[in-house]
Amino acid sequence: MARARVQFICQNCGSVHSRWAGKCDACGEWNTLVEEGTSGGIGSGPASARKARPGRPVALTTLSGEIEDAPRIASGIDELDRATGGGFVRGSALLIGGDPGIGKSTLLTQAAGALARQGHRVVYVSGEEAVAQIRLRAQRLKAADTPVELAAETNVEDILATVADGRRPDLLIIDSIQTLWTDMADSAPGTVTQVRASAQALIRYAKSTGAAVVLVGHVTKDGQIAGPRVVEHMVDGVLYFEGEGGHHYRILRTVKNRFGPTDEIGVFEMSDRGLREVSNPSELFLGERSARAPGAAVFAGMEGTRPVLVEIQALVAPSPLGTPRRAVVGWDSPRLSMVLAVLEAHCGVRFSTNDVYLNVAGGYRISEPAADLAVAAALVSSLVGLALPADCVYFGEISLSGAVRPVAHAQQRLKEAEKLGFAQAVMPAGSGDVAGGIAARSFQPGALADLVARIAG
Ligand code: TYD
Ligand code: MG
Repeated sequence: MARARVQFICQNCGSVHSRWAGKCDACGEWNTLVEEGTSGGIGSGPASARKARPGRPVALTTLSGEIEDAPRIASGIDELDRATGGGFVRGSALLIGGDPGIGKSTLLTQAAGALARQGHRVVYVSGEEAVAQIRLRAQRLKAADTPVELAAETNVEDILATVADGRRPDLLIIDSIQTLWTDMADSAPGTVTQVRASAQALIRYAKSTGAAVVLVGHVTKDGQIAGPRVVEHMVDGVLYFEGEGGHHYRILRTVKNRFGPTDEIGVFEMSDRGLREVSNPSELFLGERSARAPGAAVFAGMEGTRPVLVEIQALVAPSPLGTPRRAVVGWDSPRLSMVLAVLEAHCGVRFSTNDVYLNVAGGYRISEPAADLAVAAALVSSLVGLALPADCVYFGEISLSGAVRPVAHAQQRLKEAEKLGFAQAVMPAGSGDVAGGIAARSFQPGALADLVARIAG
């Protein structure tokens, strides 16, 4: 008799292994391999069950004029619409991931209320909470008077049958993908096979009906629940909802978007009545600014199309250790090593006997190389113990040769800085034709050494 084959699937990345191991070879996570049967899964029925149906190819040229832009449903919550690239796209699936308790359900309840108020049919399916609980939340968020339809379901086939009656929903929210299970797969809910099969069924539903489907996914580090990473490849868009536990604001970050830009963020502030939009994030990030202390530099950054000012804090302190400590929060650690190395090699400053700590204020994360110059300024300022001018912003990329290279959107960065009361800028020479205002009082280093000489006086 043939034995049923078993396989081990990494609950973090979805890779398949023939035998159990403590560590997944593919993603390097520990204790994430779980035994799952090979039966089930999409299209695993008997080969004769389905007859092939020929498709109908369409010439690309005949499509012109028919389709203009992706048909979108804007929620009216600007920060959310910005992150999705202008609203939820009909016939597409969007994944919203984040730590448990970060506010995903809150955000989507608010979005559901806003859309239902506009007359869209919105169905909110929760596998985690009972209908009464969702209603309570909606009441708190002042969305209880909207015609959002609620359902507490976890079986995909049941969900699709539930929404099949009456008008097709414009927006179908599934909270969360980890609680779903489908008859098509026979492993336990929450395993990769179930998550994948359920997501596939819902994505197919979106494409065939034209509804916008939003899947909520919890991100867990311990591998107990299937990470939404396996779903990321399947959906059209991925947004991550982030925030630091101790801070009261949340950032919605676009990670993948087949219909729009991927570098946008939406910023929200938490309150007891739900999430409030923050249309000027710089004010929020600079709100926590320490007074004139050495080691603090304001970076004029860009997030997608929007300038964001944020404070970078450095602490350089004598180290008791043979190998000094380097710790970074909110920035790239290899990038810090690079800036330190360039400072040492080209500017004659020494960090080798010092511990270096770098922090981006407010729990914000920077991914732009344009922050190099602000980081260098903060580091040198802390090392020499002199505060930087409080009305000055910094931006520019540092190359390994010690040159300061121009970055994009200089004009926009300066405009934002000026709006917030900054009077000077340190920026790369040749940043295009920036004009007027703050640009007139800018210092343009051609090399990093110019900046260091200026700070150290
Ligand atoms: P919730 O939306 O349930 O998080 P998730 O769905 O990501 O697990 O929010 C978690 C808790 O935080 C919940 O008790 C409500 C509270 N909360 C607020 O009080 N105000 C807010 O603005 C947000 C976002 C959450
Ligand atoms: Mg939730």
